[in-house]
Amino acid sequence: MIEQIQEFKQAYSKSLISVSNPDQLNQLRTEFLGKKGHLPKMMKQLRELSPEEKRLAGKQVNEFKTEIENSLKEKLQEIESRPGSSTGESDFDITLPGRGDRSGTLHPITQVMDEIISVFFSLGFSVEEGPEIETDFYNFEALNIPKDHPARDMQDTFYVEDETVLRTHTSPVQIHVMEDWEPPLRIIAPGKVYRCDSDISHTPMFHQIEGLMVDEDISFGHLKGIMDIFVHEIFGKKTELRFRPSFFPFTCPSAEVDIQCVICSGKGCRVCSSTGWLEILGAGLVDPAVFQAVNYDPGKWTGLAFGLGIERIAMLKFGINDIRLFFDNDLRFLKQF
Ligand code: FA5
Repeated sequence: MIEQIQEFKQAYSKSLISVSNPDQLNQLRTEFLGKKGHLPKMMKQLRELSPEEKRLAGKQVNEFKTEIENSLKEKLQEIESRPGSSTGESDFDITLPGRGDRSGTLHPITQVMDEIISVFFSLGFSVEEGPEIETDFYNFEALNIPKDHPARDMQDTFYVEDETVLRTHTSPVQIHVMEDWEPPLRIIAPGKVYRCDSDISHTPMFHQIEGLMVDEDISFGHLKGIMDIFVHEIFGKKTELRFRPSFFPFTCPSAEVDIQCVICSGKGCRVCSSTGWLEILGAGLVDPAVFQAVNYDPGKWTGLAFGLGIERIAMLKFGINDIRLFFDNDLRFLKQF
């Protein structure tokens, strides 16, 4: 019996050393002191011993029991006083300031898009949307770009099927709106567009905002007035702009709008290729062929349209020289806005 007690003592000491949390401590308590534990069993065995052996062994079993109770208590105190222990109060300092929430911000492209929308909203334009997957008819044909027309090469197209494309611009929304509404109308259509194009100023997916105004007697003067307001609201009153003759199959006459380079204030730098000017959008008066495609009377109705690239405008506003930064999802970049 004495030998058995010594063996249990050794086993207990070994187990106690490896205990590291209150659960393990409870298991050890049950193993030795629980109803079916080693010590109660030994107590029962004492009955079978001679009176002399009983006296000796009983004393040792009782001492072992006290030893176990004391060491379990000490071990529990030690565990609870450890830094980071979840059981004790010592790790919970209610005077420490809270960690606080890390709130995100709107993506810079969304911020610029919202700003542009609010400018046109104040000019009476409503916001419309169109599908990102378009038929050849809406993306090209109805916009006076028939099959085999060289203008199709202006936009490298992602084809989904023979007659279905990822829209290359927001101009197809013009057609959807005119099919559904009677003039006069005044809309903008923000959204994603796709082109097989990638370098420091081009991405395969980017955002445009389309503008369309249809009424009687719309002239190039209206277009110039609206573009003036838009540029001055977004880039500041002192920013100069110019109209450069251009070509789009769905507008006539067509123009591209340049603003004075915001990096060098028109003196000429790398960003503006030493010209002092930067292109921000395409625009023009709606071509009568487009009105015919939607059954508007070209003899009665006139219109203006424009399409601007939001990333380009955001790059100029924030002085960013690589468009791809907008899509890298690098928080160090995004947190600045
Ligand atoms: C068009 O997309 C015409 N639909 C715009 C238009 C609408 C003209 C209505 C007349 C009337 P363009 O291909 O030039 O035009 O694109 C317009 C703008 O989108 C460009 O000025 C440029 O700012 C931006 N852009 C074009 N390609 C990319 C690209 N790959 N990545 C980022 N921005 C681009």
